[in-house]
Amino acid sequence: MRCRGLVVLSLLTLHVLLCIVNGVFSGRTSSYVRTEFPSTDMPIDSEWFATPNGYNAPQQVHITQGDYDGKAVIISWVTVSEPGLSEVFYSKEENRYDQKAEGTSTSYTFYDYKSGYIHHCLVDGLEYNTKYYYKIGTGGSAREFWFQTPPAIDADASYTFGIIGDLGQTFNSLSTLQHYEKSEGQTVLFVGDLSYADRYEHNDGIRWDSWGRFVERSTAYQPWIWNSGNHEIEYRPDLGETSTFKPYLHRYKTPYLASNSSSQMWYAVRRASAHIIVLSSYSPFVKYTPQWMWLRSEFKRVDREKTPWLIVLMHAPMYNSNNAHYMEGESMRAAFEKWFVKYKVDLVFAGHVHAYERSYRISNVNYNITSGSRYPVPDKSAPVYITVGDGGNQEGLASRFNDPQPDYSAFREASYGHSILQLKNRTHAVYQWHRNDDGKHVPADNVVFHNQYWANNTRRRRLKKNHFRFDSIDNLISML
Ligand SMILES: [Fe+2]
Repeated sequence: MRCRGLVVLSLLTLHVLLCIVNGVFSGRTSSYVRTEFPSTDMPIDSEWFATPNGYNAPQQVHITQGDYDGKAVIISWVTVSEPGLSEVFYSKEENRYDQKAEGTSTSYTFYDYKSGYIHHCLVDGLEYNTKYYYKIGTGGSAREFWFQTPPAIDADASYTFGIIGDLGQTFNSLSTLQHYEKSEGQTVLFVGDLSYADRYEHNDGIRWDSWGRFVERSTAYQPWIWNSGNHEIEYRPDLGETSTFKPYLHRYKTPYLASNSSSQMWYAVRRASAHIIVLSSYSPFVKYTPQWMWLRSEFKRVDREKTPWLIVLMHAPMYNSNNAHYMEGESMRAAFEKWFVKYKVDLVFAGHVHAYERSYRISNVNYNITSGSRYPVPDKSAPVYITVGDGGNQEGLASRFNDPQPDYSAFREASYGHSILQLKNRTHAVYQWHRNDDGKHVPADNVVFHNQYWANNTRRRRLKKNHFRFDSIDNLISML
């Protein structure tokens, strides 16, 4: 017993030291200055945008979760010469492909651009924790890929997410993707602003196609949970294009019906031990709008006994101390922050600001326009807000932070990068932000997050009594 006590004491001391090192007790603005690649898109004839060989070969292949609980995927791709078939052949064994799913195809025009044939195919009834091989296209142009399904929904299912935002298609974007590929990430939570095709004359859709080919190296093999940003709006009445999000909606399907949403733009999925809510910053969200009503009911569906980790994705951050896009998320904060606190959301990931920032657990829910606190205060029930709009797009870094650093801001750095979130069990998650540091895989921000539902004293005591014995380092950490 004495030995166990010493081990616990040592780990506690180590934990406190790590917290101090990681800036948990005081906000920090990183002094790191990165040497930038130019923030220009890679040339359209770049090798990273190469089209696959073969007549009408499927390109821009990407998959996303296809249902609420992770037993389905939506497989999407584009053919350019003719529609071809929307079929996916798949199997648990390589080269067998004895199962088939039938999808549909669509296309769109945007001013003078005409898209290829965009195929979407739902493959459902999959087994958990299983590697599937799939084949699309025909004859010599057929292409083969694979993906791994997640573990069954379970409170202690460990799972690793990558978080990427505002990616674009520059050499910095390529660096972000290459760094992410070195991680153990199993699914990407994407926080909006994909191709930046809208930066081209007439919102040239050719840059949507090049982006689809660029990210295929990851998106064909693991789900990316999609969310939109302002660069997906593409509202161009001057070009006669008045329907919003037109290319995005045609190209990037989401399983919104599975979460009773009425729009592809906002939805939820459950994966392993996480309940992930995707919100649209640029769709109506004030009281009584469809998104507001859906979110109210979705929060009631969250079952922390099954999915302890409650994660929200949005594009415009609610808390951001960068000069860029300062307070643009304020209207959504006014609409939704009370629910985030009430339902003890663990983490809110956003993009939009082309820099990295992590907050403390703070809230500003007492503020009202006639009286009450007008600034964020520490709040144990509040989420941590993380801005990861640092994928590396052509608009460059947002390098000017507000000075002094506000109390709510724990760490901030104007560099490109991505985040990794490792859900270890129902109580603990290891989180890291990696800057793209000239070829090195460098974690620049490390935090251990305690689950907002399970990691309180009462539940920990119950866990200790009923679920775990002191027989592994993970179990020991879960008792701390
Ligand atoms: Fe944005």
